[in-house]
Amino acid sequence: MAKPKSVYTCTECGGQSPKWQGQCPHCDAWNTLVESVVEPGKGAGANRFASLGGAGEVVTLSEVEAKDFPRMPTLIGEFDRVLGGGMVEGGVVLIGGDPGIGKSTLLLQAAARLAEQGGVLYVTGEESAQQVALRARRLEVNASKIRLLPEIELEKVQATIASLKPRVAVIDSIQTLYSSALTSAPGSVAQVRECAAQLTRVAKQSGTAIVFVGHVTKEGALAGPRVLEHMVDTVLYFEGDTHTSFRLIRAFKNRFGAVNEMGVFAMTEKGLREVTNPSALFLSHHRADVPGSCVMVTQEGTRPLLVELQALVDEAHSPQPRRLTVGLEQNRLAMLLAVLHRHAGIALFDQDVFVNAVGGVRIAEPGADLAVTLAIVSSLRNKALPAKHVVFGEVGLAGEVRPVQRGQERLREAAKLGFTHAIVPTANKPRQRIEGIEVIAVDRLSDAVDR
Ligand code: TYD
Ligand code: MG
Repeated sequence: MAKPKSVYTCTECGGQSPKWQGQCPHCDAWNTLVESVVEPGKGAGANRFASLGGAGEVVTLSEVEAKDFPRMPTLIGEFDRVLGGGMVEGGVVLIGGDPGIGKSTLLLQAAARLAEQGGVLYVTGEESAQQVALRARRLEVNASKIRLLPEIELEKVQATIASLKPRVAVIDSIQTLYSSALTSAPGSVAQVRECAAQLTRVAKQSGTAIVFVGHVTKEGALAGPRVLEHMVDTVLYFEGDTHTSFRLIRAFKNRFGAVNEMGVFAMTEKGLREVTNPSALFLSHHRADVPGSCVMVTQEGTRPLLVELQALVDEAHSPQPRRLTVGLEQNRLAMLLAVLHRHAGIALFDQDVFVNAVGGVRIAEPGADLAVTLAIVSSLRNKALPAKHVVFGEVGLAGEVRPVQRGQERLREAAKLGFTHAIVPTANKPRQRIEGIEVIAVDRLSDAVDR
């Protein structure tokens, strides 16, 4: 068989050249050329994205039969929650996360459960068969029905899927696979993209659900190819502080379910155990009230969650004071400090400011703004917020406090966990009293700071 020809495509302008160069000859961008395969008879674009549908006939949308996708539940409740009810036939899932966070552990546990219902193929490129067997023994899962393939060559993996026809195939990890059609090294953007594209096509054609494990780089992106995120149906990220035992899985994209759902696990010596009631997990457990700490209620998918935010304000010793966040967005902090200065008269230009979300949780919603600012003010004045208070609300550039979604549910959850007061945006004040919690409504950031 003739070796398929490869071309180099620019990731910026899409221009192609027959050999690799440092600079794209079309748009003059540097280091953007990535190798890809040209398949005979197809344009270079044809193999880039595998499409769901068959070849194109025009139909009327209302005449297309809308079937529900048959689900294959993993029977691990928290995992099914983020998947939207289980794996989907022909669906492709990408699970990203730091090394050592528990991706292989979770997938082996899920594979064992899935294997009870149908064929499961576990392709391991990172670990030997013995290592996987050791893990299975340690996890005490039923390994008798899992088919294991230690392999890193894409073509062999494809052939195995074609002959075994499993219902679910796990690829651990996509970065270790390589296609012999390309000359670039395994783990390079070109290889990862090509392997993922080929396997996605296999999934759509054969109905096998495929799970890719992907590594995350130090910068926090899935190593190399963001393009993977466009190809797959579902993108899940594992997060959590590796120093604590809690692990979160979050859906960032899901063509078969809701995003922003979150699954919570605890890492034990027998693998990942589900945490079904996680709302009090992210509170630190110090007894005395300390300055710089503020508890907020965030909403993750359908589930409210209490998280403690901590701030430390300290005199800066350099002309460029530091603004650092862990678990929150850094730019948002700079914005909140400007709002604090302009609309509440609190200047922090000569102070270092550090903000941390306890327990390694990441909060992306702006509903954390009010709690962040109050924690900062509390640390600056060295005055603890009153005990048993929760806070939520978005802060706008004009110094106003804006409502958040599902305020009532957040308040109910706080009341359930024994909080007695809540500082919330006026529009989130419930019309009916919620048992056990007194609601303090604020319109402006300065009102909240005064209180
Ligand atoms: P692993 O699933 O190998 O991580 P990944 O595939 O994401 O790189 O998880 C490895 C970590 O989990 C390792 O540090 C040990 C820990 N672990 C446990 O604490 N208990 C267990 O039962 C297992 C299998 C692993
Ligand atoms: Mg692993």
